[in-house]
Amino acid sequence: MPRFQRPTGTLDTLPEDQHYWDHVRRRARHLAELAGFERIDVPVFEATQLFARGIGAGTDVVDKEMYAFTDKGGHQLTLRPEFTAGVVRAYIENGLQVRPQPQKLYSFGPTFRYDRPQAGRYRQFTQFNVEILGEQDPVADVEVMALVWDLYAGLGFQDLEFQLNSTGCPRCRPGYVKVLKEHYVRHLDVICEDCQRRLERSPLRVLDCKADQCQPVIAGAPHFLDYLCDECAAHFGTLRDYLDLLDRQYTINHRLVRGLDYYTKTVFEVWAAGIGAQAAVCGGGRYDGLAERLGGPPTPGVGVAVGLERIILVMEDLGVEVPSLPGPRVFLAHLGPLAKREALRLLDELRRSDVAAWMALGERGLRSQLREAGKRGVRHVIILGEDELQNGVATVRDMEAGEQVNVQLAELVGWLSDRV
Ligand code: HAM
Repeated sequence: MPRFQRPTGTLDTLPEDQHYWDHVRRRARHLAELAGFERIDVPVFEATQLFARGIGAGTDVVDKEMYAFTDKGGHQLTLRPEFTAGVVRAYIENGLQVRPQPQKLYSFGPTFRYDRPQAGRYRQFTQFNVEILGEQDPVADVEVMALVWDLYAGLGFQDLEFQLNSTGCPRCRPGYVKVLKEHYVRHLDVICEDCQRRLERSPLRVLDCKADQCQPVIAGAPHFLDYLCDECAAHFGTLRDYLDLLDRQYTINHRLVRGLDYYTKTVFEVWAAGIGAQAAVCGGGRYDGLAERLGGPPTPGVGVAVGLERIILVMEDLGVEVPSLPGPRVFLAHLGPLAKREALRLLDELRRSDVAAWMALGERGLRSQLREAGKRGVRHVIILGEDELQNGVATVRDMEAGEQVNVQLAELVGWLSDRV
């Protein structure tokens, strides 16, 4: 028989790791709701064209990384590589623009990219995503940034710092792209082949190139911040002022351009050590033109997505302790068929009374059942034998205190409810 393995770039999250996930999701949901975000769920797959138009043909995500397929009805569909395009589609399709603005929306779920797997980089990964739609005030930018900052800080991350840049708007971008290209044309003999192509298809991406030969050219490239129009410069200045006010540290990174085409004005990331190659634990920015690109009304927007696998890697690296999930606290051991029936009845009654309980299965000696109770880490073991049944009592062993008492069967559920 063939032995199956999980597909390359995917993960199994085993029971013993679930408490990390549970803790991070709970923190994220709590912070989002504290800041007035409401949950939205969108499909795991969408029309391929939505991502091609939204994220942009020419980006790595669209050109190389999409899980695109044709379904049996001939529809061109793609497993979502991110949330933003789907959330903006849902905003337009469901008329959320007529509700009070801005709409503040958060989502959780699996996302898919045919990426080159390595530490912190998977083909199926999980995003916590937040978007503020219908607001251009830089307060909205700061709100999503503060939210992810507080998430990391609360999870034990240290030395946090945003990488921050502006990628302007359709008014100022052509002017910047022109000077950037002029700079690159002077170095055509030096730069890598990818950058020669990028110069035509998505020129800002040359700033993100990792090839050694391109580094001196990037270092000498003009900075977008020097070419912003008045509106974009004012937005950026106010954003910096607000970040200072709220004491959220940032570094201006002139090379930060992000891999998705919809960004305007603000772009940011948070980087963390401990994931192998330096990688972003979150990334986001403003996308004031996206709704129109998707056929909707002009709607400014800003948001961020956090990769949860990367967060958990860093937490493990930092040795952050997370409370373990409560398992069963009561174990029922039994000897003989009558005691087994009574154990099953009690098990049912305990669970109906909200007490997490477990009983030994099969017919085994007491020693083996106690060994199992020990491994499961329960607090109380209830021992039911023929003597106990005849006297209408159960022996209750407190595994932590090492003590043993008899409790009337009729009072047992109440007795345990008070103690676990
Ligand atoms: P992104 O930078 O492409 O932005 O992804 C956001 C985060 O998802 C990354 O910072 C990283 O933590 C995680 N991530 C991305 N690719 C992988 C991967 N292959 N394996 C593991 N984690 C990964 C977006 O997706 C935008 N939609 C963010 C946004 C929301 N912008 C505005 N609103």
